[in-house]
Amino acid sequence: MSPQRRLLPLLLTLSLTALLFLYSYHHNSSLQLILTPTSTSKSTSTHFTPFSPLSPQFTLTIKLLSFDRLESLSRCLRSLANADYGTDRVNLHVFIDHFKEINVSGSGVGVVDQKLRESQKILSFVDGFSWGFGEKLVHYRTGNVGLQAQWLEAWWPSSDDEFAFVVEDDLELSRLYYKFLRELILNYYYNSSNYSPLIYGASLQRPRFVPGKHGNKLQLDKETRLFLYQLVGTWGQLLFPKPWKEFRLWYDMHKAKGIKPILQGMVTTGWYKKLGERIWTPWFIKFIHSRGYFNIYTNFQRERALSVSHRDAGVNYGKTAGPDSNLIDASSLDFNLLEMGGLANLKWYDFCFREVIPERIVRNLHQLGSVLYSVQKHKMFILVSMFNSSPAVIKNMLCHFERLDVQNFILVGPKSDFLLDLAIRGHAVIAADEFLVSIKDYKLKGFGGFETDILVKSHVIKKGLDLGYSSWVIDGNMLPINADVFSDVSESDPSYDIYAGKDSELVFVRSSSATVKIWVDKFIYKIADTMASLTDRQRHLGYVLSKFLLKESVRIKKVDELSFGVKVGENGFSETALEVGKKAVFWSSETSFSFIQKKLEDLGVWAIDAEFLCTAVICHQS
Ligand SMILES: *[C@@H]1O[C@H](CO)[C@@H](O)[C@H](O)[C@H]1NC(C)=O
Ligand SMILES: *[C@@H]1O[C@H](CO)[C@@H](O)[C@H](O)[C@H]1NC(C)=O
Ligand SMILES: *[C@@H]1O[C@H](CO)[C@@H](O)[C@H](O)[C@H]1NC(C)=O
Repeated sequence: MSPQRRLLPLLLTLSLTALLFLYSYHHNSSLQLILTPTSTSKSTSTHFTPFSPLSPQFTLTIKLLSFDRLESLSRCLRSLANADYGTDRVNLHVFIDHFKEINVSGSGVGVVDQKLRESQKILSFVDGFSWGFGEKLVHYRTGNVGLQAQWLEAWWPSSDDEFAFVVEDDLELSRLYYKFLRELILNYYYNSSNYSPLIYGASLQRPRFVPGKHGNKLQLDKETRLFLYQLVGTWGQLLFPKPWKEFRLWYDMHKAKGIKPILQGMVTTGWYKKLGERIWTPWFIKFIHSRGYFNIYTNFQRERALSVSHRDAGVNYGKTAGPDSNLIDASSLDFNLLEMGGLANLKWYDFCFREVIPERIVRNLHQLGSVLYSVQKHKMFILVSMFNSSPAVIKNMLCHFERLDVQNFILVGPKSDFLLDLAIRGHAVIAADEFLVSIKDYKLKGFGGFETDILVKSHVIKKGLDLGYSSWVIDGNMLPINADVFSDVSESDPSYDIYAGKDSELVFVRSSSATVKIWVDKFIYKIADTMASLTDRQRHLGYVLSKFLLKESVRIKKVDELSFGVKVGENGFSETALEVGKKAVFWSSETSFSFIQKKLEDLGVWAIDAEFLCTAVICHQS
């Protein structure tokens, strides 16, 4: 047993799988038409309730991955055969990996004979094992392929109504596991009100691990029976067909092009660097990170789970570590296992075990209030305008926000797939056009572009002021690289109500009696009225405010961006500029994307990869 082999146990705790097509929100299955409510009896009795014959006709196949441990395998098979399947057809596919090649010209001859005998024993045991619930299929490998291929090649879904449940041979399953999985599939896959294309499956193991370095402790309250978590679980993982297929294609593409599953800030990336292609979880984790998908987990308290690993000596463990959890059975059941509830009641957690709130899309003023409340921190929020910025520049800014632990922001932009994608990933967004249309107070005549931008900003600031919040407005032509930039400017001289950048769309509006007084609907109409007369260079909220507020009692201060930031594209710009405490980088809206990217790369502040994804996961304790 090589020392690295002992690391594998950890890896198993991390399996991931699954995917769904991001924008296909309408889950269609012909089966839905015949979906009937399944029994959700309140009793905790374990007597089998016959499943409704009108339930969706999905198939579930158990993919049992085994190697050379007959005792483990027989325990696992016995527990699977002992479970309650009702009248459902459940298939069993057993994959038996081959022993590694042995050098027979050395002292290996005796070893070979012994290995051959062991393999034959396993095969004849599996052959003699009767499986009365569906098809039994045995796949005996001709050579040693290891865990990565065992997992990845275990399944290619042949329809959207086919599910795989992957178990490794040292697992033991509760007699109730299938009833639970079945209910979960009906509730979170076939019930369209609880379906999300972001969910790739469900893990039956007790959640134990947070892969993001310095992530939060895995803590959940007693009431949380089910939750969503990005991490895959390798001890009893249910896979949904579409995301798994999507993963296989993604893996193929990355593998073929030599792109490695490196994701900075993840413990699993360290494993990958040591173990390489012997493990599969780093690939799946990278894929899940790129898509923003989630897995369903149970939280049954008292270290209970529907699947436990005995952590037997083998590929994953140098020596037997014993069961990781307590197997839940009818006698220890003090709640209704089949009561699952709506998706809307489940919490979502990322790789840092930080709660994520997906799909906060603001389409009207009313929605804005509750979203601003959820976003603000110390009664302050940042409004990021995405008008006229490339998605890559915005994504780069969001990766910096993650690094800086800046969470109190809301994005505004025209409705697009990009905007929806950001919302799915847990960012609060405002769909600008719909939002303005919902405000019927003034006539919208062919507004778009900068008019929409300025008007939405004005409304959002007003809503913030109504709620007692101060606001920052920035756009994609600025990159904050130090979170202090916000507090520094707003606290530099509290005698001002508003700060506006000299040269950029940088505005701070303090919640004060003066701003509340001036910032009423009439003020916004006035802004709307002058829009047509603005020249290109004046099309900023900052400019408009300075113009209107000159004669008012509001104290407005012009801020020189160069006092705290650096402007790229200017003469005299040098890379060392960032090292002397600069807190932001600016550029003019005319600067080309490729120039900005090049400059930000030179400065070491380009934090996304070729697919526009953050190159790192950065956790902060919360
Ligand atoms: C989904 O269902 C709708 C309405 O039932 C139908 O119009 C549409 O074609 C279906 N889409 C797919 C992908 O099956
Ligand atoms: C097999 O063992 C023999 C004898 O110990 C040795 O000479 C040979 O190099 C080994 N072959 C391999 C492929 O390791
Ligand atoms: C689907 O889920 C919703 C929300 O949880 C629930 O109210 C409804 O009864 C479920 N429908 C079926 C057919 O189970």
